[in-house]
Amino acid sequence: MALFGGSKVLAGLDIGSSSIKIVQLKETGKGYRLLNMGIRPLPQEVIVDGAIMDAGVISDTLRDMLREMKIKVKDVAVSVSGHSVIIKKIRVQEMTEEELERNIQFEAEQYVPFDAADVNMDFIILGTTDGKMEVLLVVVKKDVINELTTVVSDAGLNPVVVDVDAFALQNMYETNYVMNPEDVVALVNVGASTTNINIIRDGVSIFTRDISVGGNQFTEAIQKQLQVSYDEAEQLKKGSPVGEKGPEEVQPILGVISENLGQEIQRSLDFFNSSNPDIQISRVSLCGGGAKVPSVIRAVEQRLGIQVEMVNPLEAIAYNRKKFDTSLIEDVAPMLGVGVGLAIRKAHDR
Ligand SMILES: Nc1ncnc2c1ncn2[C@@H]1O[C@H](COP(=O)(O)OP(=O)(O)OP(=O)(O)O)[C@@H](O)[C@H]1O
Ligand SMILES: [Mg+2]
Repeated sequence: MALFGGSKVLAGLDIGSSSIKIVQLKETGKGYRLLNMGIRPLPQEVIVDGAIMDAGVISDTLRDMLREMKIKVKDVAVSVSGHSVIIKKIRVQEMTEEELERNIQFEAEQYVPFDAADVNMDFIILGTTDGKMEVLLVVVKKDVINELTTVVSDAGLNPVVVDVDAFALQNMYETNYVMNPEDVVALVNVGASTTNINIIRDGVSIFTRDISVGGNQFTEAIQKQLQVSYDEAEQLKKGSPVGEKGPEEVQPILGVISENLGQEIQRSLDFFNSSNPDIQISRVSLCGGGAKVPSVIRAVEQRLGIQVEMVNPLEAIAYNRKKFDTSLIEDVAPMLGVGVGLAIRKAHDR
């Protein structure tokens, strides 16, 4: 199975470390309509550092979700992120797409620290100047893909597309928002354990990076400083009191961790700026459950000194308000960035 390959009707399946999301969309001619959506929490320790520790829990949860959501489609698009993915811009001699397909292993060899037999590769041709092609190389470790596809198959689904979180986000963003050609947008998806960054310009990804920070940092800090359990810390983080403890104790902690998060994001954007001094980032667009902590947006804006906005992954996607509870949809929408992007994927569409 090739990366990005795929069939026509499929659901987006985002297996995050804190929850599984399923999104099914229908093309309406004018855009997209939400057909089905589900989100189910995963217990802590099921996915740790991007690695699946308990495949059984994931496929059981998936099977439950499919039953409850009455999902009929079997084909799904899934995605990978983190250490197991390498995305790199390389320059090669000009050649046709078919030629590059045959030669990609050879061309990529010097950039990939893994054995060619251990990885799946794909590429996107970005452009050609002076006989040289600029190519975005995507490399994913086979064992990570196998682990993921096995857990999905065990739940009775066919994983027909394996995408990358950062690209799914880009797809989601470009479907929902109009970008001017000169806009440079830093998409930042703050998950529970990973934050995906993808800087895009004119429909092309010019920088990607995944950093190991996210909503878990808030929970862990609350847990430690207020001497509560992990679940209680999660509850406090989301604004509900636990016993005597409430927002007065929690907010200062959220403020400090938001600062740290802003600093981490800044470090990545500084790295981008140092290698692209002539490109100015126009705005930062945040999504992901971790960005639901209210102090995050302000902290990131203050750190970076550029405009920061929240992205709504369902901004341009219609849904039936009789079928879906609007307040539930609004609550979970920030976490659907990857799932929506995956649900938009079609055959051989990159
Ligand atoms: N209302 C809220 N306030 C604060 N944090 C929230 C809220 N809702 C969810 N979160 C946090 O968002 C995180 C989950 O976000 P998301 O679903 O984007 O992550 P994930 O995809 O499961 O994780 P990852 O991609 O890192 O593996 C958790 O840390 C969760 O506690
Ligand atoms: Mg995620």
